[in-house]
Amino acid sequence: MEGDLVDSYDDLIARMTIEQKCALLSGAGEFTTRAYPELGIPELRFSDGPNGLRKQAGASDHLGLNPSEPATCFPTACTMANSWDPVLAQREGAAMGEEAAAQGVNVLLGPGLNIKRNPLCGRNFEYYSEDPLLAGRMAAACVRGIQSRGVAACPKHFAVNSQETRRMASDSVVDERTMRELYLSGFERVVRESAPKCLMSSYNLVNGTYANESRHLLGEILRREWGYRGAVVTDWGGSNDHAAGVAAGSTFEMPNPGKDSVRELVAAVRSGSVGGEALDARVREALALIFSTDAAVRASRGWFDAEAHHALAREIAAQCAVLLKNEGALLPLALGTRVALIGDFADAPRYQGAGSSAVNATQVDSLRVLIGESGLDCVGYEPGYRRDGGDGAALVDKAAVLAKRADVALVCLGLTEIQESEGLDRTDMRINENQVSLLRAVAAANPRVVMLLSAGAPVEVPWLGDARALLHLALGGQAGAGAALDVLTGKVCPSGKLAETWPVRYEDVPGAAAYPSTSRAAEYREGPYVGYRYFNTADVPVAFPFGYGLSYTTFAYSDVALGPAGSDGAPSEISFVLTNTGEVAGAEVAQLYVEAPRRDVFGPARVLAGFVKVELRPGESRRVALPPDAHAFQYWNVRTHGWELEGGTYRLHVGASSRDIRLSCEVELAGTDVPVPYEGLELAPYETGDVRTVDDATFERLLGRPVPSARPRIDRSMTLGELGRGRSPLGWIAGAVLTHLYRKSLASGEPDLNVTFVYNMPLRALAKMTGGAVSMGMVDAIVMELRGFWVIGLLRFLVEALLNKLRS
Ligand code: BGC
Repeated sequence: MEGDLVDSYDDLIARMTIEQKCALLSGAGEFTTRAYPELGIPELRFSDGPNGLRKQAGASDHLGLNPSEPATCFPTACTMANSWDPVLAQREGAAMGEEAAAQGVNVLLGPGLNIKRNPLCGRNFEYYSEDPLLAGRMAAACVRGIQSRGVAACPKHFAVNSQETRRMASDSVVDERTMRELYLSGFERVVRESAPKCLMSSYNLVNGTYANESRHLLGEILRREWGYRGAVVTDWGGSNDHAAGVAAGSTFEMPNPGKDSVRELVAAVRSGSVGGEALDARVREALALIFSTDAAVRASRGWFDAEAHHALAREIAAQCAVLLKNEGALLPLALGTRVALIGDFADAPRYQGAGSSAVNATQVDSLRVLIGESGLDCVGYEPGYRRDGGDGAALVDKAAVLAKRADVALVCLGLTEIQESEGLDRTDMRINENQVSLLRAVAAANPRVVMLLSAGAPVEVPWLGDARALLHLALGGQAGAGAALDVLTGKVCPSGKLAETWPVRYEDVPGAAAYPSTSRAAEYREGPYVGYRYFNTADVPVAFPFGYGLSYTTFAYSDVALGPAGSDGAPSEISFVLTNTGEVAGAEVAQLYVEAPRRDVFGPARVLAGFVKVELRPGESRRVALPPDAHAFQYWNVRTHGWELEGGTYRLHVGASSRDIRLSCEVELAGTDVPVPYEGLELAPYETGDVRTVDDATFERLLGRPVPSARPRIDRSMTLGELGRGRSPLGWIAGAVLTHLYRKSLASGEPDLNVTFVYNMPLRALAKMTGGAVSMGMVDAIVMELRGFWVIGLLRFLVEALLNKLRS
């Protein structure tokens, strides 16, 4: 039985008992579902994702702690997005899909496309962009690539998931329009453009309801409005109430909640709270996913060409490098240039992030080893700093001495492993002070400094004056070192552009002080003003704007023209002539921004509406067409609950970055005849874009309802870190111990991911992540205990524990 048709499994479904159906919808192991040999249903295997496979042959976990089988570690999404090249993303996806099939994996858990709401989010390295069009297109291409190899992709985490702190117990409070235009529209593109076979719901709640149980998100929007036909899987431990999830449109609960959860679902079906049709719909989705990917896994030859994939990883990483500064055209370096190689990253590269995405790479290149093959004359290597941030004055001195002996100092700096990890948000946007001291000392010894920056997120650059050239490698994957050399020597002309804004300082980010939220509600008070949408509207200076990147050549833009109008009057394309006016071949990422009239409907000054990457030889000219995105001229109207068009003059800008507009033209659009959504509402900060501080009343007017209370509630969603806030001495002791371990772990400089995970974990996850050892009844008993019913709570716990033992 094969194929993608979700309605062709009726016979099989008719032969299944309710128990079998319910048990199919949750994991049997950390990454697998139950097989039913008697029905011919094989197990389904998931695996991370998203920038390479993390299939664990031995002990499995979802934090990237135990080893996995070797696989190609491609550049992470934050890097890939800087290429602005969906074709490249598709090729990467296809290679990962091939590796997945070879390792017996049906579903690759990626790509991740959450919006980078704040530069401190610990998982930003796994996400593409602050812009949903760029993120959505790159993710859709990746999905097409993965699925072209017969296995399934699983875009994640749906939706409005923007912080790691309290990640399983955080309620994203966001207004409907911002959600639609910013946080959902990337997913909408992925679903419509690439038909993923699976999709992961996020840990968090959205406006008071768990994303995985939200009928609005999963039923109305994802399935009905966007026509999604695939399966939905919870994030690992992200299920709160599986029956509610199944009713809302969620298929699988992962990882292995044990039989207790199955029994709950069976009971819900028997009582009628989950309809038989809903159950069958979910089973059909599960079977479609299993059977449509099983053939590819079985047919795989069981190996992949590791060398070829390494070469692809290098090609991709080179296309993603962003040249941020190149004073006096210091780069590219001529062959034979005498270079001093400085910085620990040159020896042990920083090439991926920590957590569930960590790949056991097939090989890892380093600059120190590869520089000998680059044609540059390396006069020596010095580590220059201690990776742990500790003082290393002697290392600095040696590096400065080495720098003096060279024409150019290549200084490799950036964020260290522990500064970017799943489960933790960063606390600032700085690189370690010992690295800055090194840079200063080297620049004093030899001002011809080329800095190579490895970081999965923006950093503040107060040290920029000490680097004549700055090449941002982001997290380049296992072959990133070779890619860096290709760009440094001019073998590859840099064409990457930033997929996110680099603020001058963290304090410039709207809502900086309130991020991450440490209480249950994470209030998205800035509304639509995230990244360049904020900085450009409020006219705040930035270090490097969204869409920015230099090249070894130059490009001229001319002759803008509007294509024919579509049914709504909006132009179907904007075209212009692009000319390579420099000396070398190169590629330019040209961007289209739409400036809406903003008469009655506030919003960002400019919004990305299209982009294209064009390769040109020196002197070559080409007319380039940029079709605007489907929502380019629309806004989400909270009164009609639909996409509408405001009438007025729209300005279309074609540029080399969001702040480097080269061509503009205008178009007059009639607009849809609908009520103005904000009539009579006092929403001053949203009208000007100055959303640094938004008071309760204004935010409530935008939301259309009161802001939820921040007081911790004693329920299944109380985090283990909050145990001390209950009314039970046992809870106080457990809370104190855990808080001590958590603080100690953070203070150590090498946070223990298990401790941070447990600290931020809600009580309910005890039942969802312990393979049946803890039942939901036991969790409810703990809640009773914490509410102050010490004796009854304890007794109930003992009874529930006994019942759980007897049933298992
Ligand atoms: C992460 C997911 C990941 C899953 C499985 C979770 O902790 O949030 O992105 O796919 O674990 O490892």
